[in-house]
Amino acid sequence: MTYDYTGRVALITGGGSGLGRAIAYAYAACGAAVAVSDINQEGAAETAQTIIDKGGQASAAQVDVVDRAAVAAWVNDVHQTFGRIDFAINNAGIEGDMMSHRLADASYDMYRRVMDINVNGVWHSLEAELPIMEAQGEGVIINVASIAGLVAVPRNAAYAASKHAVIGITKTVALEYVRKGIRINAICPGFTDTPMVRRGIDHDEVFAKRLLAGIPARRLGRPEDVAETVMYMSSKGASFMVGECLVLDGGIHAA
Ligand SMILES: NC(=O)c1ccc[n+]([C@@H]2O[C@H](COP(=O)([O-])OP(=O)(O)OC[C@H]3O[C@@H](n4cnc5c(N)ncnc54)[C@H](O)[C@@H]3O)[C@@H](O)[C@H]2O)c1
Repeated sequence: MTYDYTGRVALITGGGSGLGRAIAYAYAACGAAVAVSDINQEGAAETAQTIIDKGGQASAAQVDVVDRAAVAAWVNDVHQTFGRIDFAINNAGIEGDMMSHRLADASYDMYRRVMDINVNGVWHSLEAELPIMEAQGEGVIINVASIAGLVAVPRNAAYAASKHAVIGITKTVALEYVRKGIRINAICPGFTDTPMVRRGIDHDEVFAKRLLAGIPARRLGRPEDVAETVMYMSSKGASFMVGECLVLDGGIHAA
């Protein structure tokens, strides 16, 4: 890693698996203290312990991003413990019913759940993070959206709706806070090799082949691809990047 984030503090929701975990490891490798939360306590604890075992500084908490008060309490606790919050990665999310039903046949409960976690979770996180960063006079926030926030996702309108909403929120708060020293962007990964994508492809060879054929790079993204881009987006080198939705998808969106 070429970035030096020694003395900096990074906070990551959904840090117990996949992209969140890879981002946590990347910040730690750059010298930052890392606070991860996840609804899955075991996953969050494992991420933090791995960082501590390598000589880094980390904490873990069980937080459901749907629970507004719990998110606020955790973010404030991280601030109290570490003294500042430099980077906030709002990453927790679910895929809903992947590639299953057209809208009229889709589960309404699942639609509500996807919106609750993917959209309200980001909202709750931002509400808690922004006043702290505003008081600090600086900070970087990256919302993990998806290419599903830019294009249609046939048979998963709930997921597409949620990620389009994350992009709308990102662009708007980016403008609201840019002159307060807070830089807010989104990252839009394509299909990346995490448990989320594995749940869809591991048991369906036909779907897996079709998915790969649709990626010009002919491979899934690696969580590290996303983490390294997040390290760049956190850096001074990206200081003019504001309200951007950075696509990282092996060429899908360009095709
Ligand atoms: N993997 C991909 O291809 C891909 C592509 C684009 C965007 N994304 C987005 O990246 C983010 C991370 O996904 P991933 O691929 O690492 O998936 P993942 O399933 O491996 O990890 C998601 C994490 O979020 C946590 N989580 C779920 N609901 C939560 C809640 N209510 N509160 C707190 N934590 C919760 C899970 O426990 C899990 O640890 C998601 O927002 C996802 O939509 C993933």
